[in-house]
Amino acid sequence: MKDLAGKVAFVTGAGSGIGLGVATALAQAGVKVMLCDIEQDALDAAVAGLKQTNADVDGVRADVSIKAELQKAADATIARYGAVHILMNNAGVTGGARYGAWTDAGWDWVMDVNLRAVIWGVEIFGPLIESHGEGGQIVSTASVAGLISGSSDPYSVSKYGVVALSEGLRRELAPRNIGVSVLCPGAIRTRILEAGRNLPERFGSDRVAEAPKDWDQQPGYEAVRAMIDAGIDPLYVGELVREAIENDWDYIFTDTGFEPAIDARFAAIKAGFDRIRDRTPRR
Ligand SMILES: NC(=O)c1ccc[n+]([C@@H]2O[C@H](COP(=O)([O-])OP(=O)(O)OC[C@H]3O[C@@H](n4cnc5c(N)ncnc54)[C@H](O)[C@@H]3O)[C@@H](O)[C@H]2O)c1
Repeated sequence: MKDLAGKVAFVTGAGSGIGLGVATALAQAGVKVMLCDIEQDALDAAVAGLKQTNADVDGVRADVSIKAELQKAADATIARYGAVHILMNNAGVTGGARYGAWTDAGWDWVMDVNLRAVIWGVEIFGPLIESHGEGGQIVSTASVAGLISGSSDPYSVSKYGVVALSEGLRRELAPRNIGVSVLCPGAIRTRILEAGRNLPERFGSDRVAEAPKDWDQQPGYEAVRAMIDAGIDPLYVGELVREAIENDWDYIFTDTGFEPAIDARFAAIKAGFDRIRDRTPRR
């Protein structure tokens, strides 16, 4: 989509961090942006801040892990702007625990916000984007953790799902004039490690609520905290996403920091093939 001015975008998790960076970068390019977030105060502040720049933006509160709320947010977007061209599935949470401390609700929370909401976003917004015939773009936020898994918590599992979904959709939606991109950020300076602030009450039994609280007790937490604190500016990420939409990038990386680790995974996969290369499978 070369000409973004006047187009309409719907961005989830837009009250903070990367989502706000994307909403800002798109608004600066003349895109009308409907910001969506579960956190009303953060959403209001984000919308008010952007309005001060004369951007054409609005906000709608939704918990994207509830399909009916996402549908209502889509309805509100059409009621407000008449059409939608860009879907940014970005809301996401860290949480849940590793092997030995898994809870069903911990898995449900992270998988519902990080993966099922992305599936629902495509299901709800795909036909809306198709309907006007002007084309569009779907960008979903995965992570480098969608390409390398460092632990057995639900985060990487959900993010691998977002990468897989995006890769498949890219083939299927190209003939329908919809580009599909997957954003795989490295360490970005946001509130992602305080994701427990948005743990919906329905997942909020004491046992489940322990998972995000326990996160700061997990091995490696301090190193991750330091990486995020020294991370990349979310507005820079927003500008990359804008460029990716203009040029229909497939993978959007923010930096090369995790490239060696991803190369190592590819090398391990290749070694798996090499191990059996000279054998003849029995059929
Ligand atoms: N920060 C990083 O280093 C990093 C790295 C890789 C991927 N990501 C991904 O980037 C995305 C954005 O996260 P961020 O880093 O900007 O963190 P953030 O916490 O600053 O922003 C996440 C936003 O999502 C919203 N949100 C959470 N649950 C929601 C729900 N159920 N419904 C609607 N909105 C909800 C939050 O209120 C918040 O505004 C996430 O998908 C995250 O997994 C972040």
